[in-house]
Amino acid sequence: MPVQVRAPRGLAGVIVAETRIAKSDSDGALVYRGYPIRELAENAGFEETAYLILNGTLPNRSQLSEFSSTLAAEGGVPYAVYEIMRRLGKDVRPIDALRTACSALGSVDRRSTVAAVQASLEAKMSVLAANCRRVPAGEKPRGPREGLGFAANLLYMLTGKVHEGYDLWVFERVLMFYMEHDLNASSFTVRVVASTLADPYAAATAGLAALKGPLHGGANEGAMRMLLEVGEPEKARRYLDKAFSDGRKVIGFGHRVYKKFDPRAVLCKEYLREMLRRRGPDDRLFRLCESIEKEMWERKGIPANLDYYAAPIFYLLGIEIPLYTPIFAAARVFGWMAHYNEQVAENKLIRPDAEYLGAVDLRYVPIANR
Ligand code: COA
Repeated sequence: MPVQVRAPRGLAGVIVAETRIAKSDSDGALVYRGYPIRELAENAGFEETAYLILNGTLPNRSQLSEFSSTLAAEGGVPYAVYEIMRRLGKDVRPIDALRTACSALGSVDRRSTVAAVQASLEAKMSVLAANCRRVPAGEKPRGPREGLGFAANLLYMLTGKVHEGYDLWVFERVLMFYMEHDLNASSFTVRVVASTLADPYAAATAGLAALKGPLHGGANEGAMRMLLEVGEPEKARRYLDKAFSDGRKVIGFGHRVYKKFDPRAVLCKEYLREMLRRRGPDDRLFRLCESIEKEMWERKGIPANLDYYAAPIFYLLGIEIPLYTPIFAAARVFGWMAHYNEQVAENKLIRPDAEYLGAVDLRYVPIANR
């Protein structure tokens, strides 16, 4: 009988798995397979980083070319999946349509090996993410274009425009930041499902369910809605006064691990400033972001997280707000699959205990006597 230990609420600070994929630290460090995130942001691309996350080492040219070709080749979504999405109707939330599509894909995909299933899932998630508003709204799906890389294709499918230069470079970095983050809620969920030896589609569907919430992946959409609601830098203080007095969490701030700063948010803030500078003299959006950030830090000591600065970047790129969390999923699926494989390789069913606080020894009362 194993010794029972009581874990803190939310499992905060408890080590429940061993991983070699990534590590975030309270002092603001993040490494993917040993490489600091800034090092990768400055030098690597999305496909290279995805290969690294999945395989543990950076690819050589031929490995990268094969990996990129597979991603491009596997993007075709079965008609049956689009048909299910279409039937959900225009009022469905895109992230719900994406989760349903992922589950449907798992029902119709007949690939027999885990590696083939994962390649299919990784490639199709971005196509489904880009189309999870369009297709339920009755529009034709927009498929990937030949010759574009992963980030360029996703941005093209999302906006209908081929982006180049700095905008595309920034979008690719944001996807790289969203790709992996050790035992975040959705990756932990994926590991729990993987530990039952269910297939990768089941695990990714569960990951999508966990991702949806505003305390996790839903935060980028919430952050953008808040920025639009506040509207002007001068209104930040009043907005926060009200949020604090209502006891509301300010979306886009705080993190279970990062207590001083989120290194991904720091980089995205630099990128946002530069994107705006290249667009002209109007820096109101940047000043708005900074004003809320400054108030949150000075009054609560809570730093901005990745979602807070990813949101205005997506906004500037012309992406519809309800697609922000699906974009997160299109990138995080690579991290999810790395966790799936790591869990299965040294599997132990994840099945903790709960302390029972309910009644005992009750006697059944026939329904007529209740
Ligand atoms: N706005 C206002 N207060 C916040 C806050 C926020 N965004 N994040 C944390 N706090 C406060 C909590 O109210 C709590 O205060 P208390 O001790 O007086 O009760 C304290 O800071 C600790 O917060 P807690 O929620 O216990 O920390 P956590 O590690 O469990 O939570 C998050 C981390 C991410 C869930 C939390 O910061 C949050 O809800 N943030 C907003 C959602 C978000 O942006 N999520 C994306 C994360 S990448």
